[in-house]
Formats: sequence, structure tokens, C-alpha cells
Amino acid sequence: MGQRELKFLTNPPDAASLMTSARSFGNYDLSSALADLIDNSITAKARTVRVYCLYSNVDPIVRIVDDGHGMAATELEVAMRPASTNPLSQRSPDDLGRFGWGMKSASFSQCKKLTVITRRNGKLSAAIWDLDDIDKWKMGILSGREIEKLIDPHLQDRDGTQIIWNKCDRLSEEGSLTEQDFNRLIVQARNQLSLTFHRFLSGEVRGRRLSIFVNGTPIEPYDPFYASNLATQMLGSEEIRQGKSARIRIRPYILPHYSKLALADYDRLSGVEGLLRNQGFYVYRQHRLIIKGTWFGLVKHGELSQLVRIAIDVPNSLDSMWKVSVDKSDAQLPAALRYRLQQIVGSIRGKSAKVIRSKGAKVATGCKISVWNRHVRDGEIRYLINRHHPVIKTLLDTEKPSLSLMQAALQTIEQSMPVHNLGQDLGADASKVNQISSDPRTIIEQLEIALPPMLLEAGGLMDKLTKELRRTEPFAQSWALVESHLQAKGWIN
Ligand SMILES: Nc1ncnc2c1ncn2[C@@H]1O[C@H](COP(=O)(O)OP(=O)(O)O)[C@@H](O)[C@H]1O
Ligand SMILES: [Mg+2]
Repeated sequence: MGQRELKFLTNPPDAASLMTSARSFGNYDLSSALADLIDNSITAKARTVRVYCLYSNVDPIVRIVDDGHGMAATELEVAMRPASTNPLSQRSPDDLGRFGWGMKSASFSQCKKLTVITRRNGKLSAAIWDLDDIDKWKMGILSGREIEKLIDPHLQDRDGTQIIWNKCDRLSEEGSLTEQDFNRLIVQARNQLSLTFHRFLSGEVRGRRLSIFVNGTPIEPYDPFYASNLATQMLGSEEIRQGKSARIRIRPYILPHYSKLALADYDRLSGVEGLLRNQGFYVYRQHRLIIKGTWFGLVKHGELSQLVRIAIDVPNSLDSMWKVSVDKSDAQLPAALRYRLQQIVGSIRGKSAKVIRSKGAKVATGCKISVWNRHVRDGEIRYLINRHHPVIKTLLDTEKPSLSLMQAALQTIEQSMPVHNLGQDLGADASKVNQISSDPRTIIEQLEIALPPMLLEAGGLMDKLTKELRRTEPFAQSWALVESHLQAKGWIN
């Protein structure tokens, strides 16, 4: 069929339907939607982003104000258009955008009315999309007077961009969200943003330090590798070439053992899901975290020490190879990299604790009831006293044990020290033997029980007791933890 025989019919999508379906592009929640807008602010060279979330009687209003270079009226017009940039066009290396959809799909994932007020070289422009009123792609343009009413004071005297979300039906879950839930969402978003942008917040990305405020309070960076802690081990980093000129960088870390941390730091690092769930690869695209704590199916969760986390830095030129999703919350490991990453993981396996799956073997002494049991879990070996051993059990079951019973129990423990097994284990891999429980709360509990009678022994002198504890097993080994607990309780300064 020749070209001349073809007739053409303009066949554009219906505006309201297309924009409404854009509401479900990606899988945004409040934090990832905010993160997508903050990406735009970073690309526009903003130094400060202020986020305001107002509950406003179940009709939330969200505003994001940055001090980037803003947009001229024509740029704003293009920016408001869906798919404003071709995903195939080359992005400047520090551009965090991707499909030309972010601002629209992130906003509409939460609200129905998107207002953008922007100022470039002192000139203000503003436009609105309202999904309830979007007939034939007619976009609202605000007059100077209307801008005046909405503009954030920060845009009065410097360039930047302000985004406003109204009619937040999704955010407010159709008006069913209580103020308490709303506040919880904001706390969650704060935490997520402090991780997603930690490298910008800490100033680690040279010349691009960013401050983010949420309802006036600054967000602190949260580094999932805790690289500033001396006890964090950074293993050798490596660059891998991908495609013609792109390079990805891989940096494995082993987090400090909890005994070297204060309880608050431990809780932060382990997060609500726990350390194990948060081990794995952390993928950064242009320094912005997109994926955390996955092994891409290369390793089973729990196979490596729970303290292993590996940073991968990917440039945006590799987006299509990594299949970065619209909401930038997901990407796929390119097949060409699988093998190399597998090798890297293999070498870490040697360095950190390796898992031996066993339910905890009895110490082989030839007798049936041993005093010591050898437990193997998550690659760590621990020797525990058998609470069911008759002497130990009697001791535990007796309400006020006599001095002689306690002496007998201590002697039983001393005599049956599993020196042989222990020697073998230590010879094979000393780093696997760990007598300190993997839960910091155990030591805190021990401390709380032992402290009052010990304080009595020390004549009520807390200073004296602290000095003693500092030299005393097992508290000395976890001194950071113990000290921060004593301070938190107000027992020491
Ligand atoms: N805060 C902002 N400051 C300056 N320009 C912006 C801002 N937000 C969006 N833009 C402009 O709008 C365009 C479209 O943004 P978006 O829909 O997020 O798509 P993308 O980021 O993939 O280009 C951006 O490319 C940018 O030119
Ligand atoms: Mg964007």
C-alpha cells in the first residue's frame, strides 16, 4: 500500500481518561511521590526543599517549595504536559528525571488538583491541572492576582518552584484518614526521605548539599552503611563497565556488631523489618537511593551475615538496561552483571560469617546430659548452658538457693567447659564463635537486673560502679550500648 492511499485521522487520547490512568502509573506512596518531586528540585539545582503537609480537616494540602532555577512560562507549559521528555533522549548526568511523567504521575497518585507556581529570573508563571475539569487538554493558567494569593513567601524574593496538591483524595484515602494516621504517614515519609536522599543531605555529593524541611523540621541524613562509624568495615570497592562507556561501582560494607553501637543506632540500622530484611544491595541512581535491601535472587536472605550491605552506583545512562520504573522504586539487575555480582557476593561470603544450618548440636562428650550446648544459627556459633541440666535446673527452680547449691552449680559449669569443641571451632574460624547474644536487649536486661544489687555492693556510689562495669565482662565488650543505656536512664551523665 502506497503512502498516498493512506488517509489520516487525528486520534488523540481523551484527556481526562489518560490523566486518570496516570494516577496509577508506578506504585507511589506519599514518600515516593514526594521523592519524585524532590528529584526535580535537585535537577533544578535547588539547595533547599520545604515540604508542608497540612491535614486540614481530612482535606489535606501538600506544598513543596524549592529554591532551584525555576521555569520560564514556556518551560512550565512543556513541563505540565504528560510525557514531557522522551525517555530515550539523553539526560544530563545529574538529571534525576526519567520518563517526563514524574511530576504529573507522582502528584496525581495523591491528589486531583496540581498547581505549579514557578519563578525564573524574577518572572512568575503558574499552571493548574484539575482532573475534575480537564476537558480537551485545557490547562488552567493563573493570573498575577491568583498567584499572589497562593505564592509561598520564599518565592517572593528568589527563583524557585512551588507545587501544590489539593483535592488529595488518594492521600486522605477518600477522607477516611484520621489526623493521627496522617501524622504517622508524615513520620514515615520523613524517615524514607532521610534514607533516599542521604547522600545529598549529608553533603557527600560534592557541591550538591541539600536541605529538606518537612513542616519546618530539617531531615537528617540516614546512611544505611553507617560509614561514619569506625567499626563499619568497607571492603574493597570495584568498578564494572557496562555498555560502551558507563561504569557501575560496587562497594560492600559490613556493619558494626551491635555491641559496638548504642541501642538507638542499632534500632535505626535494623529498621522495623530487622537487620536480616535490610541486608543486601542498595542501588543508587545518580546518588539517589532507588532500591534497598534486595539480593536480586542471587543470595537467599539469611545466607550471608545479616550485617552485609552492598552499595551499587548506577548512572542514569543505564536506565533502560536496568529497567528503572516510572516511580523509580524498582529496577532489574541486567543479566550481564549477574555473574560478576555473584562472584563478589561469593568473596564476601568468605569474609563474613557463613551459614551453617543446624538446629544446635549437643556438645559431643559421650554423655547424654551435657552442661553446655553448642548452638549454630545464622552462621554464628554460641555455647549456651543447658537450663535442663539437673544441677542447673535445681538452682533455677529453688527460690532462695543456698550458698552451697550455688557453689556446686558454678563448679559444675567450670568443670564441664567445652574446651575441646571450642578449640575446634575457634581453629576453624574464630570469627564465627560469638558468645554475646545477637539481641542487644539481652544485655540491657542483664544490666537492669544486676545493677541494683551491684550498686548496693558498691556502697551506692554510681561512679565507682560505672568504673567497675567498664572493666567487667560482658558489659565492657558492649560499652557503647551499656553507656548509652545508663545515660538514657539518667543514671550517669
Ligand atoms: N522543581 C522544578 N524546578 C524546575 N523545573 C522543574 C521542576 N519540576 C519539574 N520541572 C520541569 O518539568 C519537567 C517535567 O518533570 P517530570 O514530569 O518530573 O519529568 P522528568 O523529571 O522525567 O523530566 C522537568 O524535566 C523539568 O524541566
Ligand atoms: Mg521528574
